[in-house]
Amino acid sequence: MKKFVFPILFCLFTFVGYAQQKYPYEMSEYTPSSENLKAREEFRNMRFGLFIHWGIYSVLGDGEWVMHNQRIPYDKYKRLADFFYPMDFDAREWVKIAKDAGMKYITITSRHHDGFSMFDTEASDYNIVDATPYGKDPLKELAEECKKEGIKLNFYYSLLDWGREDYGFGKKIVDGGPVDTDWDSYIEFMKTQLTELLTNYGEVGCVWFDGHWERKNANWHYDQIYSLIHDLSPATLIANNHHIQPIPGEDIQVFERDLPGENFAGYSKGVKVSKLPLETCATIGEAWGFNLNEKNYKSPKEIIHLLVKAAGKDANLLLNVGPMPNGKIQPEFVSILNEVGQWLKKYGETIYGTRGQIIPNQEWGTITAKDNTLFVHVLNQPGLPYVFIPQFDKKVLSATSFDKNVKLKFKQQKEGLFIYTGGLKENDIDQIIKLKIK
Ligand code: GLC
Repeated sequence: MKKFVFPILFCLFTFVGYAQQKYPYEMSEYTPSSENLKAREEFRNMRFGLFIHWGIYSVLGDGEWVMHNQRIPYDKYKRLADFFYPMDFDAREWVKIAKDAGMKYITITSRHHDGFSMFDTEASDYNIVDATPYGKDPLKELAEECKKEGIKLNFYYSLLDWGREDYGFGKKIVDGGPVDTDWDSYIEFMKTQLTELLTNYGEVGCVWFDGHWERKNANWHYDQIYSLIHDLSPATLIANNHHIQPIPGEDIQVFERDLPGENFAGYSKGVKVSKLPLETCATIGEAWGFNLNEKNYKSPKEIIHLLVKAAGKDANLLLNVGPMPNGKIQPEFVSILNEVGQWLKKYGETIYGTRGQIIPNQEWGTITAKDNTLFVHVLNQPGLPYVFIPQFDKKVLSATSFDKNVKLKFKQQKEGLFIYTGGLKENDIDQIIKLKIK
């Protein structure tokens, strides 16, 4: 009898494992349209975007998970809408902050896990226009301003909803949906909202989903959701922060708080870097949503290093701010972003429109490339009189310092390229070497 136990258990676990993965992969083949492929390249060229987490949770100044973390019952939490009046919100100011930081796109939370819609929607009254004294649609203003200023606008959209009955938060998933709830009605609700987002706000660069990880074994009906988006707007890119391999229908691969291929934050375990355009999202402080008690801010230097390392891995950086309940972005963020923008004014050529994955990122830094020019970013002093680029087989024509255009000595050998850094100007943030290759 015993000898059957192991095979039976094995089959059972294999089946459960398969069932867990089944739905995400139940997608038909996907061939992106030519508009979509063009949008992907434009997306890659942009390299730097502003993530905005803003909702009624900002009133409590304790991040966007406050309802969940402080175990606030939904009905009580809903009262926050009564006090949400962002009198200082000015879309022009936000877009200017992004532009001054050298950012090319904005991704804003249209609806987060608390289920509150920050836009005018017919699908639910629980939205900024109907449920707050403010009564206006900030996404509309933002869309108009972005269009005027040449900034792409993307919408974050939560799949997870802590409050709606048809989502059935906490319920067991059976046959792809939560028990005793009208899961189909939830899917329809999302489709209605996505249609609104894609038809009422001009061109939308990307829909950025999040929350899949809350119920990995549900049938999210991505086949319907993704084709709805691509049918309404072929150039709109689809991203999903699901922490698994991309699903057919998605156009970019996103990584949370980690560079592609890394897993320090713990969300990307076993996730392989795909051939899709890549994006990494990060916070300036600790939290995504406004945190009154924020203590640890990344320095401009740390952010520049993150941006450069992301570009070296061929990824965009989507850097987050959580505006305050009055609609202002806090001064700490503004000044940090401004310094990053100053750096980009001078060195943007080495980031925008470049491609990465030339070499794996090194202790000393990384490389970005544009046609026959490579930018070697020395972020940390190598501690030797040279920078060594392993397994480099492209023929180098010249090496010069980016700042002063001083010629640098180099030596090409079978094991790699040595560039002698003697002529490099001391630069505390990033010493850039320009390599011309054949
Ligand atoms: C996580 C969090 C969420 C945040 C997101 C940004 O998934 O649940 O609050 O919006 O990361 O990447």
